[in-house]
Amino acid sequence: MNDLRDKYIQAIANAVDESTLEEVRLAAVGKKGEVSLKMRELGKMSPEERQVAGPALNALKDEINSALAAKRAALADAALDERLRTEWLDVTLPSRPARQGSIHPISQVTEEVTAIFADMGFGVAEGPRIDSDWYNFDALNIPGHHPARAEMDTFYMHRAEGDNRPPHVLRTHTSPVQIRTMEKTGAPVRVICPGGVYRADFDQTHTPMFHQVEGLAIDKDISMANLKWVLEEFVKAYFEVDNVELRFRASHFPFTEPSAEVDIRCSWAGGQLKVGEGDDWLEILGSGMVHPKVLQAGGIDPNEWQGFAFGMGIDRIAMLKYGIPDLRAFFNSDLRWLRHYGFAALDVPTLHGGLSR
Ligand code: PHE
Repeated sequence: MNDLRDKYIQAIANAVDESTLEEVRLAAVGKKGEVSLKMRELGKMSPEERQVAGPALNALKDEINSALAAKRAALADAALDERLRTEWLDVTLPSRPARQGSIHPISQVTEEVTAIFADMGFGVAEGPRIDSDWYNFDALNIPGHHPARAEMDTFYMHRAEGDNRPPHVLRTHTSPVQIRTMEKTGAPVRVICPGGVYRADFDQTHTPMFHQVEGLAIDKDISMANLKWVLEEFVKAYFEVDNVELRFRASHFPFTEPSAEVDIRCSWAGGQLKVGEGDDWLEILGSGMVHPKVLQAGGIDPNEWQGFAFGMGIDRIAMLKYGIPDLRAFFNSDLRWLRHYGFAALDVPTLHGGLSR
């Protein structure tokens, strides 16, 4: 009896985890455990022997059971301690690690422009950057012989040898999205179309790839007055000023009639741009009333509908607002530049929350 006790009390003390402890339990007091088998032998004993062995075996069983329970509790405590130690958390550390990436000014400004026009009821439409010359030119009232085609410094795609169809182009402006939107939704229309465009040009203010945002509003009674109001609201919201003055200069685009280029009053005093004051004028966009032939190309009846369109350089208004002197730097992927001019990823521009905090 003493040997049995020593053996199992020792085994319980040595158990390192729950499963070894369970093995010990089965070997001692399980159905076929050593102590249980001994208890079964009680029946074969004489009454005198049983009187001595019975209580002793019961006491041994109780002792082993309580040693098992104590050990089980100790193992559970140790497991909890270990978990608490490994899942330890220093709540005094800074809540957010230093920021790694940043939002590119082009993306930021695109979001800002989208938020402002969304507030005036404009949706967002997109089109392909590689487009047919029909969408990029013909549908916009720029036929094959038109000088605007040559002026645009167009990048043409290759056609396979023997394929005589006109080549696709890298779109030279976002205006083809006007046509695609008219085709898709019909009138009325109220969208902006932001995206990349391409022209073979490269200096401090030109890169072969840049970004525009097109605006298009078509309805029964839309006029230049609506265009002027929308652009004024836009410029005020975008440059975050209360007053602006716009100047509409007569111009020419094949896809609008009449056409106007729009300048905003500004000052460059001290080398810094201030919008809404001063004696300088800054050209920011081209615009006009959509040409009847363009409406027709988009499948909209020009006798029933009319509207305005405008096209604005996103990169250009980003340079102006954020004081970025060289357009080429936008696309150099220089990390120092990106860290300096980039925006925090979680500061989504909204009109109520602030466009560019
Ligand atoms: N597509 C013209 C450009 O790229 C801009 C424009 C758009 C002008 C819409 C008038 C109307 O210069």
